[in-house]
Amino acid sequence: MSTASLRRDHELIEKVIKAMESTIQLLNDGKQLPEFILLPVIDFSKNFTDVCHHSKEEKSLFPALEKAGLPSNMGPIAMMLIDHQRSREIGTEMEASAKEYLSSGDSTKLISDMQQYVEHITEHLWKENNKLFMMAEARLQYVSEKVDKELTEIEKSKLDEIGKTREHYEKLAENLAKDVSEQGS
Ligand SMILES: [Fe+2]
Ligand SMILES: [Fe+2]
Repeated sequence: MSTASLRRDHELIEKVIKAMESTIQLLNDGKQLPEFILLPVIDFSKNFTDVCHHSKEEKSLFPALEKAGLPSNMGPIAMMLIDHQRSREIGTEMEASAKEYLSSGDSTKLISDMQQYVEHITEHLWKENNKLFMMAEARLQYVSEKVDKELTEIEKSKLDEIGKTREHYEKLAENLAKDVSEQGS
């Protein structure tokens, strides 16, 4: 199935989004959060979600859908591209506000950026899981092997570029969930 690898990515992203929701809660409660909570959130959002996962969609899934007759300058693909651009923008803001927070201790901007990021990504994943991927599963049946192969290759080359592995990000998500819940206790 041409979307299986992307759905797996979404599950990992959702895990980090959940940890981010708890992080926001902690910040709202006035807890001071250390670097080892915030830096992995930034690393994951910037590198795994943006560079790796969004590249897989933009370089393989969307072009395959285009070939199957879906326009890319309007409709769902165009909307997803705008969403990706927006998540990059919020991600950049969030990185700056996390650094600012770590030096000043003022969490106001960080809370608002993280909140925006969580809402934006949650909505985006929903649209893909329930609309775009369903469309892809119906339209790409005959090329799913080719798309799967491309997705694996893009993932590998992007992670090589970043200098990390998938295991690194799976471990990161797991540790983050644990570390955040320990901060709360
Ligand atoms: Fe996407
Ligand atoms: Fe996605």
